[in-house]
Amino acid sequence: MAAQVEELKRQHDAVVLAHYYVPAATQALADHVGDSFYLARLARTLDCKTIVLAGVSFMAEAVKMLNPSRTVLNPEPRANCPMAHMVRKADVDAVRERYDDLAVVCYVNSTAQIKSWSDVCVTSSNAVKVVGELPQHNILFIPDMNLGRYVREQLPQKNVILNRGYCPTHQRIIPQEVEQLELEHPEAEVCAHPECSEEVLREADFVGSTKQIIEHIANGDGREYIVLTVVGVAAEITRLTEGQDKRVYFPATPPICPNMAMVGPEKVLRALQTGEGEVELPDCADRAAAPLERMLELAA
Ligand code: 13P
Ligand code: SF4
Repeated sequence: MAAQVEELKRQHDAVVLAHYYVPAATQALADHVGDSFYLARLARTLDCKTIVLAGVSFMAEAVKMLNPSRTVLNPEPRANCPMAHMVRKADVDAVRERYDDLAVVCYVNSTAQIKSWSDVCVTSSNAVKVVGELPQHNILFIPDMNLGRYVREQLPQKNVILNRGYCPTHQRIIPQEVEQLELEHPEAEVCAHPECSEEVLREADFVGSTKQIIEHIANGDGREYIVLTVVGVAAEITRLTEGQDKRVYFPATPPICPNMAMVGPEKVLRALQTGEGEVELPDCADRAAAPLERMLELAA
């Protein structure tokens, strides 16, 4: 399959991007693997004809918004992040009415329509920096309450208002399983994604995006790490720590994102063979691209 994919990439002048949460076999076919921020920044600079985005649909949509003249293929359009829909326009409007000095900050894990209601986007790797740069004191953070709460804790000078969205996969990581891992591996450093619940984040020694967790482990002095995010990151951790005596442990109920899991390598091959899954932008895309661009400016 790898040889077939390589040949099709060459024929179609295509580049394959993959998020760390898709299956390892899909990551292995990609030209670039990264977290949401890395992929968004990179997508904007690519001058190939076709970009295949192996991830969930909001990621493919964001790639198209950032580089609209390319053909963007989503190998599995049914891979739809539930959190990307978890905010209502009426709730955003109600907060906008209440405050003059307000910025609506939207996690990239959101549909184009939700982005179009907001002032700036963030990813888990730049949310604290971007919100810290904003002149507004009042911040409505949508859709993720856990990342929003984490930002609020890091920036006590801001009034961060939370929405009730969450990632079902990270929310399912429970403190009891984390405590069990800590008992079994008392020397291990606990690394968590900020989409984890408040109780789980309280156990963490290090909080970061997928890429930040991977780099923290690869460059860290420690030998053992408890990793509280989707198990897909294990492939890159293994690659980067080859030859180092490092151990990583995941919760007993392995966190697997069912949407990312749908993006198997055969779907990437099929997208390149058929051209199916082309991303079409909705009418609101122009308004949605502005907060994405603003994120790239503020996070630079
Ligand atoms: P990253 O920002 O770490 O890529 O996370 C994206 C995501 O979907 C987490 O659930
Ligand atoms: Fe969405 Fe959670 Fe999957 Fe990330 S891990 S894509 S937030 S469901």
